[in-house]
Amino acid sequence: MTSTPSSTPSSTPAPGTGTATARTGRTAIRGGLVVTATEELRADVLIEGERIAALAATGSEAALSWTADTVIDADGHYVVPGGVDAHTHMELPFGGTHASDTFETGTRAAAWGGTTTIVDFAVQSVGGSLREGLDTWHAKAEGNCAIDYAFHTIVSDVTDAVLKEMDTLVDSGESTSFKLFMAYPGVFYSDDGRILRAMQRGAANGGLTMMHAENGIAIDVLVEQALAAGRTAPRYHGEVRRELLEAEATHRAIKLAQVAGSPLYVVHVSAASALAELARARDEGLPVFGETCPQYLFLSTDNLAEEGADGFEGAKYVCSTPLRPREHQEALWRGLRTNDLQVVSTDHCPFCYTGQKELGRGDFSKIPNGLPGVENRMDLLHQAVVDGRISRRRWIEIACTTPARMFGLHPRKGTLAPGADADVVVYDPNAVQTVSAATHHMNVDYSAYEGRTLTGRARTVLSRGTVVLDRGTWLGRAGHGAFLRRDTCQYLD
Ligand code: URP
Ligand code: ZN
Ligand code: ZN
Repeated sequence: MTSTPSSTPSSTPAPGTGTATARTGRTAIRGGLVVTATEELRADVLIEGERIAALAATGSEAALSWTADTVIDADGHYVVPGGVDAHTHMELPFGGTHASDTFETGTRAAAWGGTTTIVDFAVQSVGGSLREGLDTWHAKAEGNCAIDYAFHTIVSDVTDAVLKEMDTLVDSGESTSFKLFMAYPGVFYSDDGRILRAMQRGAANGGLTMMHAENGIAIDVLVEQALAAGRTAPRYHGEVRRELLEAEATHRAIKLAQVAGSPLYVVHVSAASALAELARARDEGLPVFGETCPQYLFLSTDNLAEEGADGFEGAKYVCSTPLRPREHQEALWRGLRTNDLQVVSTDHCPFCYTGQKELGRGDFSKIPNGLPGVENRMDLLHQAVVDGRISRRRWIEIACTTPARMFGLHPRKGTLAPGADADVVVYDPNAVQTVSAATHHMNVDYSAYEGRTLTGRARTVLSRGTVVLDRGTWLGRAGHGAFLRRDTCQYLD
């Protein structure tokens, strides 16, 4: 196969950060097994400046004719697109504290784990505008990111003015997806009427509605009752956030989207019965999509029930939707194989055990919700390849290509093709690592996967043609990462 530069990716970079550091040299990655969502082939990859210029079969006349300033030997390795993590929360304010990774530490950790693009969530405050939320998030991220980044918008207050702002953001590509919450009354929560109005707007302007599907009004009643009965330990977080209340909210979100005539993307699906709602809707032909996260595939309520030395270890595993009993994992893996779930993102939202998770000692409802994972996603999913749960191509599809398509970043991100950004990972499929907080790069004092042995690891990582990580040496820098404007959802095409 030989290709030359041709396609111009449709998503456009924002002026500024990315262009100031543009690379100009030629790099050839030689001798690896190129794996994309659709192909596996022994091929060399030619990079010119920040973009992929060509792919050609290893040893072919075309590949041999290339001259390059830098040659990267990928023999015995996979050459894959950089991961696209479509759900992160760097520095998110939550429960009186902030997620402990900044854009600097979180994007660096992402790159260590083979992820080269994140889509984070800019939060609208109640009474504020989407613009104010985005400005705040731009200020946190600009000049600090090691890899490219984009923003969804969390809509906490659906007003007429906000609906108009949604049109503007979709038109400019600054944010083409909007997360609404059926959970967290008094914070992010929207009632069904507000959700319907936002979805109707999405149907008209092309913005994709993302949904946190849990019945927060009912959950708050169960929280109050549990605490009154003295059930205060972390494991009760999982018990009150009942599976039925995820399934019910998922069903309701699907019906509201159907009424609005809009597509729907349900985030962090953890319950088998919620997945069944998505599968039923998809069987009916509705444009309904689902994301799950490594924590729901690899962890369970057993972790939430961990007591450890101080009886509170389970707090490390408090997130929403909550971890479910182990049996749910099989259903989620099946959903990934059958494409009833399309994306695996991390929902990376780290809080240190000491000083942050501890805020909920004696009251599980005060434990900040969220788990670290941005560094672990590609490797955990590769372990699923090793274990025979998914194919190599499916690994790339759910972790790179579909997230890019779902959120309007394709073909610039999520694939290896002429014209795409040279976000490339040379991946060692045989490297064995033991996951640990002692060696990870996330700014958090524990690992949700402590002690787990994984086979596979990113050896060399390029972000827009620049090597940011090579054989355990960090070569990247804060400020290399550029803000990405996005197209609307390309998974409907
Ligand atoms: O527990 C979680 N998921 N924290 C982050 C906020 C959210 O709902 O995604
Ligand atoms: Zn959520
Ligand atoms: Zn989240």
